[in-house]
Amino acid sequence: MDLELEKRRFLIVGGSYGIGLATAQLAALEGAHVALASRSGENLASASLQIADVPDFLPLNVVCDVTQEGAGETILDQISRHWTGVDALVCAVGGSVRSAFEDLGDDDWLHNYRFNVLSTVRTIRALLPLLRKGDRPAIVMLGAAASKMPYPHQVMSNVHKAGLLGLNKTLAAELAGDGIRVNLVAPGRTLTPLWTGRADKMAAEQGRTREEVLEEFSREIPMRRFGTADEVARNVLWFASPCASYVTGQALNVDGGIARGLL
Ligand SMILES: NC(=O)c1ccc[n+]([C@@H]2O[C@H](COP(=O)([O-])OP(=O)(O)OC[C@H]3O[C@@H](n4cnc5c(N)ncnc54)[C@H](OP(=O)(O)O)[C@@H]3O)[C@@H](O)[C@H]2O)c1
Repeated sequence: MDLELEKRRFLIVGGSYGIGLATAQLAALEGAHVALASRSGENLASASLQIADVPDFLPLNVVCDVTQEGAGETILDQISRHWTGVDALVCAVGGSVRSAFEDLGDDDWLHNYRFNVLSTVRTIRALLPLLRKGDRPAIVMLGAAASKMPYPHQVMSNVHKAGLLGLNKTLAAELAGDGIRVNLVAPGRTLTPLWTGRADKMAAEQGRTREEVLEEFSREIPMRRFGTADEVARNVLWFASPCASYVTGQALNVDGGIARGLL
């Protein structure tokens, strides 16, 4: 099936590594134009090099921290200089912290809220003018399987990723009149720098290897393995493509079966 991604303009916020970069690589291979945003010019340059072997790929990179006020406007300003519209906006910034509820103070909660929710809210809000000028525009946000089956010891992301489910449904209804579709991909445990970093830290604390830590966390997954960034990215691409033209407000788990709820 042709996903009709040729020349579609993809803006991927959180695109310098992990699921965002995997999405960028697949989109570029399908002939899309790709712009990446992240906090680090160095990481963005390295990401561009990893996509550079795709013929005609021209990197368009924006350095910004989306936990900071004004970041959405920075992205809008930079992208408007090159593109008249955005066809697919992917919001891939976020993450969890393992901690007991009692050990978390207001500042921890506010920081995680800015990281998981406000980053997505302000990016979408700022980019709406360019999305409205896009071709069959679509927004795809990254949630987490934890939003449908809260993980123990990850209370902040359990709460905030569940909030993204509400944002997803609300925006899907509110933006349908503008022809903008909104969907969410909810990864389970996926082998990206987010998880390799976490596993290395636990391994060092517990005198084990990264492989041993990952193996232990794999046991709870019905498919008995972590997902790859590519496996998540393929679903992001589908939601972002005109092939999903009648799909909006949906949240798809890509999690090897770890979230066992009915909904
Ligand atoms: N991996 C998993 O197991 C998993 C599970 C459930 C949900 N998810 C969700 O899926 C999404 C992507 O996860 P991932 O594993 O690919 O994460 P990752 O490996 O940590 O990559 C995150 C990306 O976001 C960028 N970034 C981080 N903070 C930023 C900020 N404040 N402003 C702008 N860019 C920022 C990073 O680049 P720079 O460092 O260059 O800024 C990087 O490009 C996240 O929302 C995460 O919560 C992942």
